[in-house]
Amino acid sequence: MDTFYVTTPIYYPSGKFHIGTAYTEVLADSLKRYHKLKGDECFMLTGTDEHGQKIENKAKDAGMSPLAYVDEQAAKAKELWSLMKIDYDKYIRTTDDYHVKTVQKIFERFIEQGDIYKGEYEGWYCEPDESYFTETQLVDGKCPDCGREVKKMKEESYFFNMKKYADRLLKYYDENDFVKPAYRKQEMINNFIKPGLEDLCVSRTSFDWGIPVLSDPKHVVYVWVDALTNYLTALGYMQEDETLFNKFWPANVQVVGKDIARFHLIYWPIFLMALDLPLPKTIVVHNWITMKDGKMSKSKGNVIYPEQLIERYGLDATKYYLLRCVPSSQDGMFTPEEFVERFNSDLCNDLSNLLNRSVSMINKYFGGKVPSYKGLVNDADVNLEDYTKEKIETFEKELNEFEIANALQAIWDIVSRTNKYIDETSPWALDKETTEESETKLQSAMYHLVAELHQIAILIRPFMKETSDDILRQIGIDSKNISWSDLEKYEELENLKVIEKGEPIFMRLDNQVEVDYIKGLMKK
Ligand code: ME8
Ligand code: MG
Repeated sequence: MDTFYVTTPIYYPSGKFHIGTAYTEVLADSLKRYHKLKGDECFMLTGTDEHGQKIENKAKDAGMSPLAYVDEQAAKAKELWSLMKIDYDKYIRTTDDYHVKTVQKIFERFIEQGDIYKGEYEGWYCEPDESYFTETQLVDGKCPDCGREVKKMKEESYFFNMKKYADRLLKYYDENDFVKPAYRKQEMINNFIKPGLEDLCVSRTSFDWGIPVLSDPKHVVYVWVDALTNYLTALGYMQEDETLFNKFWPANVQVVGKDIARFHLIYWPIFLMALDLPLPKTIVVHNWITMKDGKMSKSKGNVIYPEQLIERYGLDATKYYLLRCVPSSQDGMFTPEEFVERFNSDLCNDLSNLLNRSVSMINKYFGGKVPSYKGLVNDADVNLEDYTKEKIETFEKELNEFEIANALQAIWDIVSRTNKYIDETSPWALDKETTEESETKLQSAMYHLVAELHQIAILIRPFMKETSDDILRQIGIDSKNISWSDLEKYEELENLKVIEKGEPIFMRLDNQVEVDYIKGLMKK
């Protein structure tokens, strides 16, 4: 049995999560579900990154102690993931005791090995991002990552000797195809490695809310050393029981947003090299969900929260939209118009209607009993089957490249093709004829519709489990033991009975009403 370890970034628990954060989580969750359906032994890790000055300040603003504040925020995060039915196996909080102790051990090991040394740091500090920048990295005197104000700061600090590893990292980049999409790797080389990698300041004395350095406790460990190592500590690395670590490391896929690509593609691999550990097999860097007026932000009043969409449109429709809206080549823009349009065209017109028409025809022509496979009887049968096989291959190829939007497109190509198949076979005309041939053709048409719905239900299952369950139930299949290999049972579906009265799985939305509704949400 293969193992599959997938991680999400651990999010800052500094406020409600918007649909951007939810996107990352859903992406990782979908990958896990896909591998689970394939029979792999899976482990998904998510959590919260709870230390650092930004959190300390947030807690102060809320009139709370940092720990009380992050307790509350972490509970809210878990509530959201439970509402979204995220199938994670472990939720790590960087305030967890095992994590704190292991980070301290790792830090001491780095000091002992000479990877970490003491020096003095002076630089431009972006407080919200908790990052230092050199003069030349600033853009118009502002933070190059977020564009906000930076402060000149100076402190006695520990440094990680990144320079020592720069050549090894370049060589690793050269020999391994571990970054998806690959252009992100080139960005790192051009923007950070080639110009000369700076040693990284890895401790702070300017605030307390962090993990104290064991041998020098006036310093706290820099939040990114604390944060990145979560992917190891969560599995028991350097702890009493390393079973999970031995089973699941190296991670198969680490999902991160482009804003934290630098940390995951440069510092993270170097920390792993210093620990003498294998690097993750794949790091997927995804783009952002943006709004018409740019980045989502509370101050702009253009934020959408996942709960709001789920409450009105359902979990699967929300996840479907998120996964469709971010291409790997650029940011994806959320617009109310596109949300409603996709809902109506893809989910309602294409998918829901296909199911509905199929179920109602099988009831009408065969009293609900699905005929068995007859072979390639209608002219359109050959093409439908070939097309479906081809699109499933496309789906797998796209998914293996983490081109999720394209993978979903391949499924919807099958949905559209199947709708067209109904017109091509004209079951209503076949039903009027009374020859044996027309009867067989009608049986074959109905079988093919069910077989296609069965394929579609399996293909969408990693992304839209509830919809998959609904489709399978309506065509009379028990979804409990469905696995990816059921895709091979195209010709073997026997003794099925569709439900007596089809139920629409997605109901058409009124365009104007819903666009206005979503616009209203954005103003709250
Ligand atoms: O960076 N579109 O936490 P964070 C898509 N704690 N994804 C988005 C997004 C958007 N508009 N906004 C946020 C941190 N994300 C660190 C991570 S990991 C060891 C430490 C997603 O709360 C995206 O994946 O700022 C991004 O990387 C993550 O949320 C950042 O969450
Ligand atoms: Mg961020």
